[in-house]
Amino acid sequence: MTKKLNVGIIGYGFMGRTHANAYCQAPHFFDLPYEPVLKVVCGREEKVVKAFAAQWGFASYTTDWHKVIEDDNIDVVDICVPNNVHAEIAIAAAKAGKAICCEKPLALNAEQGRQMVDAVEKAGVANLVSFNYRRVPAVTLAKQLIDQGRLGHIFHYRANFLQDWTISPKVPQGGRGTWRLDVKAAGSGVTGDLLAHCIDTAMWHNGPISTLCAMTETFIKERMHAETGKVEPVGIDDACTFFCRFDNGSLGNFESTRYARGHKALYTFEINGEHASIAWDLHDLHRLSYFDHRDESIVRGWRSIHVTDGDMPYMGKWWVPGLQIGYAETFVHQVAEFLDSMAKGEPASPSFREALATQCVCDAVLDSAKTKKWVKVPKA
Ligand SMILES: NC(=O)c1ccc[n+]([C@@H]2O[C@H](COP(=O)([O-])OP(=O)(O)OC[C@H]3O[C@@H](n4cnc5c(N)ncnc54)[C@H](O)[C@@H]3O)[C@@H](O)[C@H]2O)c1
Repeated sequence: MTKKLNVGIIGYGFMGRTHANAYCQAPHFFDLPYEPVLKVVCGREEKVVKAFAAQWGFASYTTDWHKVIEDDNIDVVDICVPNNVHAEIAIAAAKAGKAICCEKPLALNAEQGRQMVDAVEKAGVANLVSFNYRRVPAVTLAKQLIDQGRLGHIFHYRANFLQDWTISPKVPQGGRGTWRLDVKAAGSGVTGDLLAHCIDTAMWHNGPISTLCAMTETFIKERMHAETGKVEPVGIDDACTFFCRFDNGSLGNFESTRYARGHKALYTFEINGEHASIAWDLHDLHRLSYFDHRDESIVRGWRSIHVTDGDMPYMGKWWVPGLQIGYAETFVHQVAEFLDSMAKGEPASPSFREALATQCVCDAVLDSAKTKKWVKVPKA
């Protein structure tokens, strides 16, 4: 009999759904060391959290996250709330000895992130941050190709994350769904929300970032606050661009905005090495573009690898070659690997400490944009 692992999810919004779905799906597709049990879900509105619990099959619900932490039956606390609540819940969960899965970005800033790292490392609890794009099969394949040395020395890493949903000045800041525009809830704008994903993937692929120079802009300076009803200054960055150097000597170029008309979630990266290049696009997430200069010249060109064969990352667990998976499955992979690492007593990745490294880059980006200077990225 597989041991049961009782999960408490805090937050029933977008991520609450992806995580609940992942705990439901993972046992059907992966041989898990534990049987995840959706024990309790927490959210602030009783009517909504009750309906959510019924829809996803949670045994119970609560409107107070402290109850999840105080419950001795809960093994894993899964944090799917806005960024300003991550630290408080994670630190309390660590003190209570729970394993923790926390949504990204780790915290509002690196200082808060460090307190979270201290808490989980002192308590010795399993910890993971949900940078789920690492677990797109094509993105994992890119990591394998780099680690195999196929690209040779890497010269360039460039990544973009483009959206267009805040162009209207009528979009409020704060409140349900629009807390991302309120600096008190989000910590930053596109830097922590979108670029954090690009930075995590980039450092996973290409190692640490050492120095950077950034530029940010807040195009709409005032917005109505959904909670106070008052027009208030906007404290987040609407757009951000930065250049950087990686420890390995390669150059990085990153851009993110919510003002790129026509783009909903266009996360792309391209990596150029001495022998080969790789490119990926979230809108076509099951394909990896690959160019290898060592090919015979008459057939040399960009290949579009359909990442669906059974010997490609994760795909042996899914359907048959040629049939693809999508966004939701990245969270299924995350659950499977988190549980596996817990059973083996090994650190999960990205851990809180790895996510702190990303947070340090985000802080350095905001610092550089403010001071208009190159900034050395502090070590996590
Ligand atoms: N990994 C990804 O791809 C990805 C995508 C989206 C969001 N996120 C991250 O996930 C987190 C949540 O984002 P979301 O899009 O799900 O937000 P959301 O607005 O859809 O949901 C937030 C949830 O948090 C709950 N909540 C807020 N404050 C609370 C409190 N004090 N106590 C209990 N519940 C509280 C709300 O009731 C709601 O259920 C954020 O940190 C965000 O950055 C990650």
